Amino acid sequence: MADERLIVALDFHKMDDVKNLVNSLGNSVIFYKVGMELFYSVGTEVVTWLKSQNKKIFLDLKLHDIPNTVAGGLCSLMNLGADILNVHAAGGFTMMKTAAERLREESAKLGIVKPKLIAITVLTSINQAEWCGALKISEQVVQFAKTAKDAGLDGVVASPQEAALIREACGKDFLIVTPGIRPAGSDINDQSRISTPAAAIQNGANYLVVGRPIRAAENPKLAAEKILAEIK
Ligand code: C5P
Repeated sequence: MADERLIVALDFHKMDDVKNLVNSLGNSVIFYKVGMELFYSVGTEVVTWLKSQNKKIFLDLKLHDIPNTVAGGLCSLMNLGADILNVHAAGGFTMMKTAAERLREESAKLGIVKPKLIAITVLTSINQAEWCGALKISEQVVQFAKTAKDAGLDGVVASPQEAALIREACGKDFLIVTPGIRPAGSDINDQSRISTPAAAIQNGANYLVVGRPIRAAENPKLAAEKILAEIK
């Protein structure tokens, strides 16, 4: 049943909660996302533990600073062994290019597999009413995606609603990771630009990040299995 395309967001602040969820999902889920709530609470322990369970890790720390600082920060994170790292595309072309180059050089020097580096475009919680950019959200997302590709990044994080436009603009090998996934009838919470798992895959997403629809479900394993079935 396991399918790498489902990434479950571990938005907890205690290792006990992480272990309970990961153990209850068992072999059906192999990819997990560690974000700022968890990493700022428990630090590197969670990455070491997930690796000991043979899980893959998207370390979603959304770096956003000047080029040298971001590149240095990513090299430190790469040593932990995460499979995907990310930065904000709003940090600019030079920041993304410097980060991608430094990760390539450092991983080659250390003889380790370079983690995928992807860029956050426009957060899936933002809607057109609160957006204050000059372009429409979808235009800005595509522009960020093209810039990330030109800078040598492997892909982007975007809403499933923009996945098809990104696929068209950036080609078949560019990774598209989509949070904002809500199975039909489930609670939207603070998200805005959402879609169902099936629609996200149909629109070209490679990976679906799902948090509350699984974490807050009465039976998380059943919720994950329903989403996996929809992905298939
Ligand atoms: O609970 P929910 O399914 O909304 O969780 C989505 C996860 O994806 C959260 O951990 C959130 O931080 C993350 N995320 C997002 N939008 C982005 C990037 C990451 O919702 N653009």
